[in-house]
Amino acid sequence: MAAHPSPAPHHVAIVMDGNGRWATKRLLPRIAGHKQGVDSLTRCVRACLQRGIGVLTVFAFSSENWNRPPEEVSGLMELLVVALAKEVPRLSAQGIRIHFIGDRQRFSDKVRTALVVAEQGTSANQRLILNVCFNYGGRWDIAQAAQKLASRGEPITELSLDRAMALAHVPDPDLLIRTGGELRISNFLLWQAAYSELHFSAKLWPEFDEAALDEAISVFHARERRFGQTSAQVGGHSSSHDKKAV
Ligand code: FPP
Repeated sequence: MAAHPSPAPHHVAIVMDGNGRWATKRLLPRIAGHKQGVDSLTRCVRACLQRGIGVLTVFAFSSENWNRPPEEVSGLMELLVVALAKEVPRLSAQGIRIHFIGDRQRFSDKVRTALVVAEQGTSANQRLILNVCFNYGGRWDIAQAAQKLASRGEPITELSLDRAMALAHVPDPDLLIRTGGELRISNFLLWQAAYSELHFSAKLWPEFDEAALDEAISVFHARERRFGQTSAQVGGHSSSHDKKAV
C-alpha cells in the first residue's frame, strides 16, 4: 500500500476487449458479443456516474478494425447507429455528454449524422463526459494534431500539440483499464496515457461489471503517482486533473 493514496480517478479510459471471445465461447456470432458489449458499456457508464468519475473514454473501433471481416465492420457500424438511437435519450437524462473521437471521413452519411445528433443532443450535459473513440488510433491523433499546427504555421511544442489533440477538452486519463487479458495498449491514447495508471483485467468486456470496476479503482488507490518526482516530493496528492484545465 502506498504511503499517500491517490485521489479518486477523475478520468477513466477503457479498452473494451473480449467481445468476440465472449460470443465464440457461447457458439454465437461475434456481433452478439458486441451487442452484449453495448449493454456492458451502459452499465459501466452508470457505475462511473455513481462513483463520481467525471470522464469516461472508451475504445469502440480502432483505425485497424477496418481490417476485420466486412460483415463484422458493417455490423459494428449498424450497432452504433441502433445503440445511439436507443441509449442517447437515457444517457442524456442522466446528464451525460457524448463526444466521438476519431477520423469521420470514412463513415457513411448515416453514421456521421448519428454521431452529430448524439453530440448535439447531449451538449448541455455536465455530469459525465463520455468520449467514444470510433475509428480512432493514437498515432492518427498525434499526426492530425501535428498537421493542424503545420497548416496554421504554428510551432510544434508539447503544449501546442496537446491542445490540438482530439482529447484536448479533458485532462489526461488517471486510470487506463484493458479487459480481455491482453497486456497491450494497442494504439490507444498513446499521447494522453503517458502517466496513466494501467490496470489489466482478465474479464472479457461483456463480463466487466461494477465489482470489476471497483477492483480497478481500488488498485488505482493503492498506487503512488509520482509524475517523474520522488516519493518524498509528491508527499500529498496529485492527479493529471491538477496538471491540465478541463
Ligand atoms: C474488442 O473486442 C471490441 C471491439 C472491437 C468493439 C468494441 C465495441 C463495443 C464494446 C460495443 C460498443 C460499441 C458501439 C457500437 C458503441 P474483440 O472483438 O477484439 O474481442 P476478442 O479479442 O475476444 O476477439
